[in-house]
Amino acid sequence: SGNDLTAVLAGARLLPVLTVPSVATAGFLADALAAGGARCAEVTFRTPDAEQALKAMAAHGGLTVGAGTVLTAEQAERAVAAGARFLVSPGFDAEVIDRGRELGVPVVPGIATATELMRALKAGLDTVKLFPAEPLGGTRMLRALAAPFPQARFVPTGGIGPDLMPGYLSHPAVLAVGGSWMVTSGHLERGEYAEIRRLTAEAVERSTP
Ligand code: 3PG
Repeated sequence: SGNDLTAVLAGARLLPVLTVPSVATAGFLADALAAGGARCAEVTFRTPDAEQALKAMAAHGGLTVGAGTVLTAEQAERAVAAGARFLVSPGFDAEVIDRGRELGVPVVPGIATATELMRALKAGLDTVKLFPAEPLGGTRMLRALAAPFPQARFVPTGGIGPDLMPGYLSHPAVLAVGGSWMVTSGHLERGEYAEIRRLTAEAVERSTP
């Protein structure tokens, strides 16, 4: 349920966002993330192998794995069938939210304005992805947007790296910070799992007070 996800994100503080080019890398990737101390991960639906990679990473067992870049109800269904425990979207889509609810899997919609946040709250969703956080104005935007909505919880994502992350996490309405900096396409092309592990461990360390 949504409350479980809130607890997972609040405990994790860090949500690595992964775009996995090949299912062959999924096991190594899950090992590296778990060894670095990550507790959850978001596999984006941006590659042909995303579904299989999500399945392999979910089966790994060491991480709570969700799907990202979920744009349609059909993708929501495929993601949940592959084992996604939560669904993340870059924007607010009622069909994705309804399908997630039917399937019993929490959806974290992307929001970039007060209007979109009001739509999410009206739909019964308290946890949203502030996206793209840095281009929107970073922590200044977060503070201003969060002020009128004390019930809202945020997962800022987009343009955030290890140096900016603590500033977001110091806001009490932020559950976790999302980002792809720990797992780039370059890392995966070169098979740099030790580097993925190192960057994950560094981020986990900086995410805890
Ligand atoms: C996402 O889909 O959440 C973003 O691609 C992650 O943002 P980042 O790549 O700027 O970290």
